[in-house]
Amino acid sequence: MVSIKVGVLGATGLVGSRIVSLLAHHPWFRVAAVSGGQRNHGRRYAEARHDGGAGVPDYIADLKVAASDATAFADCQLILSALPAEVASDVEPVFAAAGHAVVSNAKSYRLAPDVPLIVPEVNADHLALIDVQQRRRNWSGYIVTNPNCSTIVLSLAIAPLYAAFGIRQLQVTTLQAISGAGYGGVDALSLIDNVIPFIAGEEDKIESEPRKLLGAFSNDGIAFADFAISATCIRVPVLDGHLEALSLQLDRPAQADEILTTWRDWQPLKQRNLPSAPAHPVIYLDAPDRPQPRLDRDAAGGMATVIGCLRRCPVLDYKLIALGHNLVRGAAGGVILIAELLKSEGRL
Ligand SMILES: NC(=O)c1ccc[n+]([C@@H]2O[C@H](COP(=O)([O-])OP(=O)(O)OC[C@H]3O[C@@H](n4cnc5c(N)ncnc54)[C@H](OP(=O)(O)O)[C@@H]3O)[C@@H](O)[C@H]2O)c1
Repeated sequence: MVSIKVGVLGATGLVGSRIVSLLAHHPWFRVAAVSGGQRNHGRRYAEARHDGGAGVPDYIADLKVAASDATAFADCQLILSALPAEVASDVEPVFAAAGHAVVSNAKSYRLAPDVPLIVPEVNADHLALIDVQQRRRNWSGYIVTNPNCSTIVLSLAIAPLYAAFGIRQLQVTTLQAISGAGYGGVDALSLIDNVIPFIAGEEDKIESEPRKLLGAFSNDGIAFADFAISATCIRVPVLDGHLEALSLQLDRPAQADEILTTWRDWQPLKQRNLPSAPAHPVIYLDAPDRPQPRLDRDAAGGMATVIGCLRRCPVLDYKLIALGHNLVRGAAGGVILIAELLKSEGRL
């Protein structure tokens, strides 16, 4: 057992609460401080949570909610941030400058040229960008970012195909759960008996972030992968789990059974023994009507992308459906897995 003290910023929100719950019995990390919005400052953590702290051990439930201020987190080597982007933009650099390792869910620094955007199975080598960041910004700590939730689901599905066959172009339509917008993000009355064909900023993220993830690292930064992505994003009345309908064209021809074998054999983190890493980051289901959010979002504890319906596309090469848990793999579990990777790389 290692015990690294962790501070969770935005710990009263949907993502922050999930981070804390996932860390409650973590073998390496121990939650030592939590922050929230001003209305919750000084309150007992369990009482400030929307779920009353269900299942949270006493030593965390009794913490007092602090402001997101580096002095309240001085003890915490690791900071997991679930702040809204407009707050994260100002707060996260202060923590990094003060020597903390910050792993963020916010979009603020994802595309900054010296900030790693990481999915551990996809581009662990991009962590070398931390050295560039620390040199350029003169920070003793650093910021590493977790991609957008739909990007994570997508990138796990396509990364092994990109490595094996190359990708020329890709179209994706996302059907995104209501929890993806956070507490207060979408009101239920607008979404029951309805779908909303607009999610602010989402299409741009999905069209750019996977190309950074699949890009090549050099000392100058990341050269983005060179293929076009077209994304359409739709909010649907599902609680958790983003479903994505993809069509893609490969650089080199592949048979369907080669694609299935590529997904099945893809275990890039196998040797690292990270506590939150799924044994198989991609799970393929043969049934013709899967994956489905309610049935499949918790596969591998919510840490896998579940794929099905692989078939020929009359326009591009193949079509498929991918699904992932936006709050677990797409957010809370994603930053925890990045933190585990940082530890295994000797950066914590
Ligand atoms: N939801 C998802 O599926 C998902 C997936 C990937 C990434 N993300 C990203 O993760 C972050 C959190 O999302 P969420 O869904 O958890 O949102 P949320 O439910 O609205 O939670 C936001 C959190 O930030 C806190 N906060 C708000 N203003 C603050 C301030 N001025 N200072 C300090 N804390 C402040 C809130 O505290 P109080 O409630 O105490 O006021 C709350 O703890 C966002 O950047 C989001 O884009 C979300």
